[in-house]
Amino acid sequence: MQIIDGKAIAEQIKQEIAAEVSERVARGEKRPHLAAILVGHDGGSETYVANKVKACEVCGFKSTLIRYESDVTEEELLKRIKELNEDSDIDGFIVQLPLPKHINEQRITEAIDFRKDVDGFHPVNVGRMSIGLPCFISATPNGIMELLKRYNIETSGKKCVILGRSNIVGKPMASLMMQKRVPGDATVTVCHSHSKNLKEECLEADILIAAMGQPNFVKADMVKEGAVVIDVGTTRVPDATRKSGFKLTGDVKFDEVAPKCSFITPVPGGVGPMTICSLMMNTLKAANHEF
Ligand code: GUN
Repeated sequence: MQIIDGKAIAEQIKQEIAAEVSERVARGEKRPHLAAILVGHDGGSETYVANKVKACEVCGFKSTLIRYESDVTEEELLKRIKELNEDSDIDGFIVQLPLPKHINEQRITEAIDFRKDVDGFHPVNVGRMSIGLPCFISATPNGIMELLKRYNIETSGKKCVILGRSNIVGKPMASLMMQKRVPGDATVTVCHSHSKNLKEECLEADILIAAMGQPNFVKADMVKEGAVVIDVGTTRVPDATRKSGFKLTGDVKFDEVAPKCSFITPVPGGVGPMTICSLMMNTLKAANHEF
């Protein structure tokens, strides 16, 4: 059994990006530039955005953080998005979610020029991904595909079971695993809250991707011997023994499942660290005008 070290791979990729940026700058090209819009003062969002800015520094990117108070109007935000769309120095930008209730997130997402949508949330990017065209793929699925690639995990002809059908993980993961290339070429089943015989479905999986947000849901008796298990869960479970007051808990009961696996991602340190790294890969791709 091999533990997939997402933290180490993420660090390695950021170093690779930094080297490519140094070469670009040495050739006289501009530094990639990522902007982030942060509305309000939600603790989780503050941390995520601070980590994104930090990752930009490691990669040698320029970054701009644009802050608004939570009473900002949708109109003001849309106006700023239009300016960022038209600003040739900005290669890509994100609007950190969630947004306050009076703002329509879908309208905001669709206002972003899809060529600068490094989050990969714009319907044009989602559509392009599903038909195999160059696009920005959202952070978590992109990170998982990169882990499969870097650990040379065989996916072609394998049975892949995905638990969860969210727009940001389950659905794109299914698209990518069935795409006509490697990683991909898998036979994909997506299970969700209305699926029957969940245990039997999971037992069929050569590759099991757990993304339903239910801590410790996947037990040893649901996993085939030699399976690859990817745990996307990141639920904060209260834990009084920790300074933070919580323990980040995956969807897989790691201790009992790990001995049965050929590969498994831990939580934390598996898929999580790859997400910001995916954003950095997308920003470099935007700067290179790859599509
Ligand atoms: N909130 C939680 N994850 C994300 C993400 O990947 N992008 C944005 N924009 N907001 C988020």
